[in-house]
Amino acid sequence: MITETISSSLREEFVELIAKQTGIEIRSQNYGSMGDNILSRVQELKLSSPQTYYNLLLNSEGEEEWQKFVCLTTNKESYFFRDKGQFSLLRNTLLPELIRRNQRTKSLRICSAGCSTGQEPYSIAILLKELIPDLASWNVVILGIDINRESLAQGKKAVYNTWSFRQVEEDIKTRYFKNSAGYYQLNDEIRQLVKFHQINLARDIMPRLDSDLHDMDLIICRNVFIYFTESAIAHVIEKFFNTLKPNGYLMTGHAELTNNHVKAFQAKLFTESVVYQRRSGEFAHAQPSSSQSFKPTSFDLGVITTQQKQNKIVSTSIKPITPSRSKNIIKSTIIEEVKQKSSNKDEILLTEVKQLFKTKSYHLAQKKLEQILQEFPKNFQGTYLMAELQANLGEYELAKKWCNKAIELNSFNPNPYHILANIAEEQGNLEGAKKALKQVIYLEPNAVSAYVNLANLYQLEGDLKRANKMQQSALKILQTLPTNTSILELGNISAQDLTIQLQQSLSG
Ligand SMILES: C[S@@+](CC[C@H](N)C(=O)[O-])C[C@H]1O[C@@H](n2cnc3c(N)ncnc32)[C@H](O)[C@@H]1O
Repeated sequence: MITETISSSLREEFVELIAKQTGIEIRSQNYGSMGDNILSRVQELKLSSPQTYYNLLLNSEGEEEWQKFVCLTTNKESYFFRDKGQFSLLRNTLLPELIRRNQRTKSLRICSAGCSTGQEPYSIAILLKELIPDLASWNVVILGIDINRESLAQGKKAVYNTWSFRQVEEDIKTRYFKNSAGYYQLNDEIRQLVKFHQINLARDIMPRLDSDLHDMDLIICRNVFIYFTESAIAHVIEKFFNTLKPNGYLMTGHAELTNNHVKAFQAKLFTESVVYQRRSGEFAHAQPSSSQSFKPTSFDLGVITTQQKQNKIVSTSIKPITPSRSKNIIKSTIIEEVKQKSSNKDEILLTEVKQLFKTKSYHLAQKKLEQILQEFPKNFQGTYLMAELQANLGEYELAKKWCNKAIELNSFNPNPYHILANIAEEQGNLEGAKKALKQVIYLEPNAVSAYVNLANLYQLEGDLKRANKMQQSALKILQTLPTNTSILELGNISAQDLTIQLQQSLSG
């Protein structure tokens, strides 16, 4: 019998932690079930209190427990050919177009993100089987990805009950499934077309060049964003953009995104659904490297250099966040046009600010930023640039304040933590620097520079074991990068040169 209760402040902390870890926004109407899940885990693990459970989830030993908690927290509802309109759009228009486009290479790459127990990717596989007569000679990748390990295991088995067939014609059921005692086993030919991977959309790196998760022709992500926080959506959309081929399509559930989320895409309106096509080029808000660097940093692994006051700015990509989430994608063209104009205005001004940064005209840049932030006080990019600017001017306390504001606006963006780490180090606050770097890694697990800087800090403290571990982690990430990749935060050193330096440091 569970008698514990969860205080409202601890409940808020859980809500925040879940959002950070999974992207899922626990809304007030779901506080009760979240509390029940927490208390049941506390009881199961024989822990002394919900606070102890929170601490377990918070630290690195909690990884396995997250798997269990996530299974309780996610909604797994799915069925075959869910949403007839979207599936007819796929069958009649989108897939035939992709097939034509790839006829020469005979390859097709599709990802179902948040695939739950597999009904969605298998529905796509069945469509492809029907649309491509010589399917066996094609190189088809259909990936089902989801955070929930148990759902994926079920998906691999491909056995479903009748509830999964509520929108399926009898004919499909008899052709592709074998009924065994009221359960339906999908046939092997379709089954082997789909591969499942456990991926946490909120935290994991995408694209992943070391797996199939890259260069997709189509990503379907339906009934997932409805559970996500605003900043998690923005974060995942950018990953999807980078995981699609140019001109590839993103299909979400109806009205799950606003125009603001998908600025980098070309929205295509069909009567059955809107779909988003990746434009060629970079994600709309990717930020070119700044001419200066807060730290041409301590990637020299032996010594940590003291930073010169004028020698700053972190150069990273910046993603803006949009605060409001409309439930209606295209309500009125006029309203959208007005919105578009105002959002373009802040972008134009921000581009000017970045130009001023390049010429080190900080005072002019500050004036422009103040103007932008007066009009768009919740603009993440403007807030972040203000932090960067204050750091450049050596106004560390102000810079920290702006960093914290930026974090409030987008808790998923690691860039403000880069600045905080640099300021802390500059001020001789090694603990603060380590804490901020760990946040960077938490938010961006492949942040090579954060590992290298942490290694330096540990080395400085004489903790060679930890320094070593950080260097090994950096090396592992470097192995996944093309050798000519420039690591901006480490003074544009190439991945190859950094690898050599780290290897030398480890062997010496
Ligand atoms: C309601 S189901 C949608 C299934 C399917 N797309 C459909 O529309 O039928 C939502 C799925 O999103 C998954 N999900 C939630 N958060 C996720 C995350 N951070 N990363 C990956 N998958 C996530 C859940 O585990 C769940 O399987």
